[in-house]
Amino acid sequence: MQEAVKEIRGSYALGVMSNDEPGVIIAARKDTPLIIGVGKNENFIASDIPAILSRTRDIISLDDGETAMLTNSDIKVFDSGGKNIKKKITRILWNPKKAEKEGYRHFMLKEIFEQPRAIEDTLRGKLDIDNGRIHLADIGLSPSYVRNIKKIFIVACGTAYHAGMTGKFLIEKILKIPCETDIASEFRYREPVMNKNNLAVIISQSGETADTLAALRLAKNAGLKTLAICNVVGSSAAREAHGLIYTHAGPEIGVASTKAFTTQLIALYLLVLYLGRVRKAVSREEAKKIMTALLRLPHQIRTILKKDKSIAAVAKKYYRKNAFLYLGRNINFPIALEGALKLKEISYIHAEGYAAGEMKHGPIALIDKDMPVVAIAAQGKVYEKLISNIQEARTRKGIILAVATAGDKLISKIADEVFFVPVTSEELSPVLNVIPLQLLSYYIALYRHCDIDRPRNLAKSVVVE
Ligand code: M6R
Repeated sequence: MQEAVKEIRGSYALGVMSNDEPGVIIAARKDTPLIIGVGKNENFIASDIPAILSRTRDIISLDDGETAMLTNSDIKVFDSGGKNIKKKITRILWNPKKAEKEGYRHFMLKEIFEQPRAIEDTLRGKLDIDNGRIHLADIGLSPSYVRNIKKIFIVACGTAYHAGMTGKFLIEKILKIPCETDIASEFRYREPVMNKNNLAVIISQSGETADTLAALRLAKNAGLKTLAICNVVGSSAAREAHGLIYTHAGPEIGVASTKAFTTQLIALYLLVLYLGRVRKAVSREEAKKIMTALLRLPHQIRTILKKDKSIAAVAKKYYRKNAFLYLGRNINFPIALEGALKLKEISYIHAEGYAAGEMKHGPIALIDKDMPVVAIAAQGKVYEKLISNIQEARTRKGIILAVATAGDKLISKIADEVFFVPVTSEELSPVLNVIPLQLLSYYIALYRHCDIDRPRNLAKSVVVE
């Protein structure tokens, strides 16, 4: 095997057995995750942690170029030169129950409902409200480096990219640091101008997305400090970045990302607060206010989840539609994109997410009596602008489904359906606004009899380019 892997091209994770040596597995990997589960009188190889969680929580992550030889009682790992090496065993704290449906019909629904708990876990131990301080033990950035950051790059794919887009609004508004958010597959080939006083933040649930890892390596090679926001302990991103913020979402099994997204947003708020305090861009009082609002989010999400049945009823009315348009502005523009992505990936309905101000530049032509327009009309500085976008859509006979802030009296007069969410600050509103959209997609897909947890053509982690 050690000779063979020198010849193999491309990315792979291999487990090889031979009739001549039953009870022995040889494993090797390149650019594709492979973990070894360390059991009692049994050992495992797998591509992802949930696969072995019911048997063991102790794992070894194999690195590129390494080979491993497993029997039921022994594990040996060799480097690319064939030398026997010692590898660190990481204990995964995920509860094996979390990798089961626990009575829910789908993992996606269970994971939507787990969000309050996932956010509590991500915040746990990080907030010192009395002193207005944030504790991020693995941030890996010295205060002097933080004070000197001139620009931040956020790079990710899919849903994680939408979290990163929200991060850009926060970083520029609160920290006043220029920030670019980019899709990893674009970033890695577009020759971005990076300097040593820039910070690269990569966001990935799995920590194994090929393009995101390539972006991380590109930034590292350019001399930047790198920070990974990821969910899977011991993943490639977690091991390769200089600093880390773990989202404590627990295993996310459904292909459609839900709790990973909201905890990524939480990690970004923590990062912004941390940087803001070190750079004195956020006062102690402001920090306290934001922390208090963050701590309220889990309860507020629970109140939205209680309206699950009414969201299902709305889904039942519109699940036969062929296309949806999602509109948002400013910090809720990424939520329009995320709402559209959730719908298309699990229900196979064509959905467009658009910055509402762009409507007149093209998409308004799509609107007619058969087009549901999902508008995120949260209170904030662009609320009135969004209301006029809704009016424009209504004039074209579009069906208006609005996400709005509790207490908004106007919205019910101009929208066909309204999903109310509790009051929070404009900056934190994306965390609440996305919840009804996740549920709407879930129920639409359910009524369309789609394979919700395993939508066609999609993999949970995109480990090849
Ligand atoms: O594991 P990652 O966060 O890096 O995955 C990124 C995307 O592949 C992922 O968010 C994808 O877009 C989801 N299926 C969306 O629900």
